[in-house]
Amino acid sequence: MVTTHVLSEMKLKGEKISMLTSYDYSMARIVDQAGIDVILVGDSASNVMAGHETTLPITLDQMIYHAASVVRGVKRALVVVDMPFGSYQGNSKEALNSAIRIMKETAADAIKLEGGEEILESIQRILSAGIPVMGHLGLTPQSIHKFGTYAIRAKKEEEAEKLVHDAHLLEEAGCFAIVLEKIPAALAARVAQEVSIPVIGIGAGGGVDGQVLVIHDMLGINQEFSPRFLRRYHNLYAEISGAVGNYIADVK
Ligand code: KIV
Repeated sequence: MVTTHVLSEMKLKGEKISMLTSYDYSMARIVDQAGIDVILVGDSASNVMAGHETTLPITLDQMIYHAASVVRGVKRALVVVDMPFGSYQGNSKEALNSAIRIMKETAADAIKLEGGEEILESIQRILSAGIPVMGHLGLTPQSIHKFGTYAIRAKKEEEAEKLVHDAHLLEEAGCFAIVLEKIPAALAARVAQEVSIPVIGIGAGGGVDGQVLVIHDMLGINQEFSPRFLRRYHNLYAEISGAVGNYIADVK
């Protein structure tokens, strides 16, 4: 079983951490049995499962439904659940209530939320209830309307220094890991060296402690999304479309 303790040991030993998203029982079962270390029930479910443009519309109830389905398929991996937009930004009491609902109703292992200093009080309150927290800095998709673009973050010194400061705050607060999304590789490598907790990157170069991808993207189910950092390991769109075509031909 992968625990937060196992992840911190992996960082100490220099062993890289593998992480992928899953949103349902059947996929989570395959991903877990293939030996992944961490499964993220990402709020990217809002995009790849529900077809929304952004991660903002997905609700706490919907995340709980996805997460409970994933947990039923997993025996070994650590399961982390994204707290959706609107479930923790209001105040720390609301954040704690949302995190408790996720843990009680899904039996997941940990939660993830986006942001640094501005949500520190919520993070501290959730941690003090004994719930493991994974941070998420850099491109934080729940703030897309503030950023106005999905382009790389923290290229300028001021934003980079704030990110490093936030990473230290998350570590000091007691987060067990941090996701860094779409920031310069050198900055991500610096954070991974400066903090003692695992740093998992997505579009953040190879100098971090592990990598995460959205499973629909890496399997090639989602053909429209192709950022530079994305390595595709399969063309499942073509496979499924071919199989469906063969089935239709047989039926006809
Ligand atoms: O929701 C998600 O899939 C994520 C990953 C991109 C890290 O947060």
